[in-house]
Amino acid sequence: MRRSDVFSARTYRSLIMTDLTYIRVEWDGDLAVVVIDRQDKLNALNADLISELGDVFAGLRADDKVRGVILIGAGEKAFVAGADIAELAKMDAVGGVQVSRQGQEVFREIERFPKPVLAAVGGYALGGGCELTLACHLRIASENAWFGFPEVSLGIIPGYGGTIRLARLIGLGRAVELTLTGERVGAERAAEIGLVSAVVPRSELLDRAKALLHKVTRNGPVAVRMALESIYRGVDTSFSEAQDFESSLFGLLASTEDMKEGMSAFLEKRKADFKGR
Ligand code: COA
Repeated sequence: MRRSDVFSARTYRSLIMTDLTYIRVEWDGDLAVVVIDRQDKLNALNADLISELGDVFAGLRADDKVRGVILIGAGEKAFVAGADIAELAKMDAVGGVQVSRQGQEVFREIERFPKPVLAAVGGYALGGGCELTLACHLRIASENAWFGFPEVSLGIIPGYGGTIRLARLIGLGRAVELTLTGERVGAERAAEIGLVSAVVPRSELLDRAKALLHKVTRNGPVAVRMALESIYRGVDTSFSEAQDFESSLFGLLASTEDMKEGMSAFLEKRKADFKGR
């Protein structure tokens, strides 16, 4: 049975309140704020936490009231300080593949999530935490944020898609350097190299994240979804195939109420009221 089947059959909002150990979800209008809360270990990702993350996103996917998601770490010190090293230390070769696969799959679900996901990075985003930000569609950081891939210092490599996504986001040269040195970069440098789009005071992080996401969610939800689909498909395929896909989505949007509403609103000089259809 797939996670989505479980969640379509049950009220996941109440489940989220009761069944999760490491994650809580806060609701703010059409936004869901997913808080990773394992503060005693700087929100490090163990297998159960990653599994909960997958469950939460499966639930949010099916929730029509949610138009955008913010991912944030609890506490002042960390977004996520990486995969749980105590857990990783016990893995054998087969277990290592499973660990990597589990993270890859959940992070891929986040990347393929049909609504915008923003990582609001306050504090450390190291290893798997940095990889998690890369799987999100948007990233902003607080002034005390640190990014990096320390894996090689532990004798491993980033295993949740990070060796692939970092180069796509910031370019091959910088990605190779960060991955091989294991060095951390602070928030300002992260902005310079395109890892984040803005650096804000820690006290404003959540509000600024909401403001940025609202700039997205006020637009046509179906168009936002198709834009994400087209962009991420484009990264994964040839230019000509990506263009074919883009044209199909463009044509599909012409059949939506949202397109009619968006264009009518412009022509009638009023604000559009999108229904997501
Ligand atoms: N996995 C497991 N536990 C972790 C962790 C991780 N990735 N990162 C931090 N923790 C735990 C620490 O072991 C410590 O637990 P303890 O109090 O039971 O000993 C607690 O979180 C606080 O961390 P601490 O190291 O004392 O905080 P600090 O402020 O001195 O240092 C960091 C912060 C982020 C620099 C440091 O914790 C660190 O280097 N973490 C590992 C980062 C990493 O290599 N991540 C990639 C993993 S693949």
